[in-house]
Amino acid sequence: AWIDGEVLKVNGDTITVKCSNEKTVTAKASHVHAKDPEESPCGVDDMTKLAYLHEPGVLQNLKSRYDMNEIYTYTGSILIAVNPFRRLPHLYDIQMMEQYKGADFGELSPHPFAVADVAYRLMLNEGISQSILVSGESGAGKTESTKMIMRYLAYMGGKAATEGRTVEKQVLQSNPVLEAFGNAKTVRNNNSSRFGKFVEIQFDQKGRISGAAVRTYLLERSRVCQISESERNYHCFYMICAGSPEEREKYKLGDPSTFHYLNQSNCYKIDGLDESKEYLETRKAMDIIGISSEEQEAIFRIVAAILHLGNVEFAEGDDVDSSKPKNEKSMFHLRTAAELFMCDEKALEDSLCKRIIVTRDENIVKTLDAEAAKGSRDALAKTVYSRLFDWLVTKINNSIGQDPTSKCLIGVLDIYGFESFKTNSFEQFCINLTNEKLQQHFNQHVFKMEQEEYTKEEIDWSYIEFVDNQDILDLIDKHCQMVTTSILPPIHNRE
Ligand SMILES: Nc1ncnc2c1ncn2[C@@H]1O[C@H](COP(=O)(O)OP(=O)(O)OP(=O)(O)O)[C@@H](O)[C@H]1O
Ligand SMILES: [Mg+2]
Repeated sequence: AWIDGEVLKVNGDTITVKCSNEKTVTAKASHVHAKDPEESPCGVDDMTKLAYLHEPGVLQNLKSRYDMNEIYTYTGSILIAVNPFRRLPHLYDIQMMEQYKGADFGELSPHPFAVADVAYRLMLNEGISQSILVSGESGAGKTESTKMIMRYLAYMGGKAATEGRTVEKQVLQSNPVLEAFGNAKTVRNNNSSRFGKFVEIQFDQKGRISGAAVRTYLLERSRVCQISESERNYHCFYMICAGSPEEREKYKLGDPSTFHYLNQSNCYKIDGLDESKEYLETRKAMDIIGISSEEQEAIFRIVAAILHLGNVEFAEGDDVDSSKPKNEKSMFHLRTAAELFMCDEKALEDSLCKRIIVTRDENIVKTLDAEAAKGSRDALAKTVYSRLFDWLVTKINNSIGQDPTSKCLIGVLDIYGFESFKTNSFEQFCINLTNEKLQQHFNQHVFKMEQEEYTKEEIDWSYIEFVDNQDILDLIDKHCQMVTTSILPPIHNRE
């Protein structure tokens, strides 16, 4: 953290400062940063206007603005958002969208609508597709900002007066559906996206939305079977447990605490969230997208089946290294899972308790011990869930429809930011590598290309130092060809 202070004495490269907390400290000059004495207490809306551009200056400016409820600040053409952690509806209403419509960038207060408007204008006037990259750590507000941008683009490119199911309504309603199946409560965010998302909104020549495509990346599959303390599984599991009594009866569901895939953590509820309401909202969003009631029924049947599957426990079987469902309770859950999956109960049991080894001449059936059967059960649950998620994404894309004639599109990337936990796995490796690549893209455009341009045009400017992460990328991309060729490709098939 940084602290404000007044310089008392300068002695070579050591400086004595009286800090605002009344303490007097002596520090190396290189550890102290200058502050503009005429700095406005309200801060500046564009950091490039700061007299001194350094970390404490930037933080102080963001804080001054945040204290005045100004959560957005520019740095040139980049928008910085500070999470307000409370609803600010007045910031995002239709009047606000009207104000930003066609306004010059920088004329009004910093806002995601302004960024979306620039992208929309550039696309329309110059006929060039645009991309908006939203990045930040977990809980920073990426998904909320993405939704604002999408809402603005839907407003600009939509047919406002049209009733019924329009492309833009479908695009917007894809958010709650994907969040129900791909978001979960984590220690850092009650609605954390556990997948990356690139939404491509296609426009016709007149700037009307004519189609859209959603691409998703790397859904966190491990969460389906394993959750840490204070975290939850995907929202849809709790929603279905909060369905109507008839539905719960149909899917043989009870309290979330009765399911192994949900009761590994003590957290079932999220403050301020009514699961049964969310469930109905998700169903409504599915209707708007064009997911039929039969399909919705099938989707939730699978969600319920996964919960039952997780409750099947195994005991040692009659033969050596074999297993069978542990007791009557496990048999019940196995039977229910099979009913809901609409498959043969015995076939489901065999798929968990046995493994088929395919050789050139014959198929050898090998029995599995209880521990291995549990592994098969979890692998099946993860695979079915991630296929369900992929199916949903494909369904959304097919329902919204693509415009093959569209020449221009605006892409919005909402991908999870850097992650560092006590124990990091291959998932964190992939997430962090992606973020390093995006950071390099940013460095390339904001620092490298810009400064090369200055050099070429012989502009007098002082070189801006930045942390170049190219070495990190080279380590993985170049020197460790093995890593990229042998570890990364199987990423979609991994367990
Ligand atoms: N502009 C905003 N206005 C009001 N609340 C916000 C805003 N941005 C974020 N929040 C609050 O912060 C929470 C976390 O934001 P969000 O889900 O967008 O984070 P994220 O960056 O997408 O995190 P993750 O990487 O975990 O998905 C939201 O659920 C919401 O409560
Ligand atoms: Mg998110």
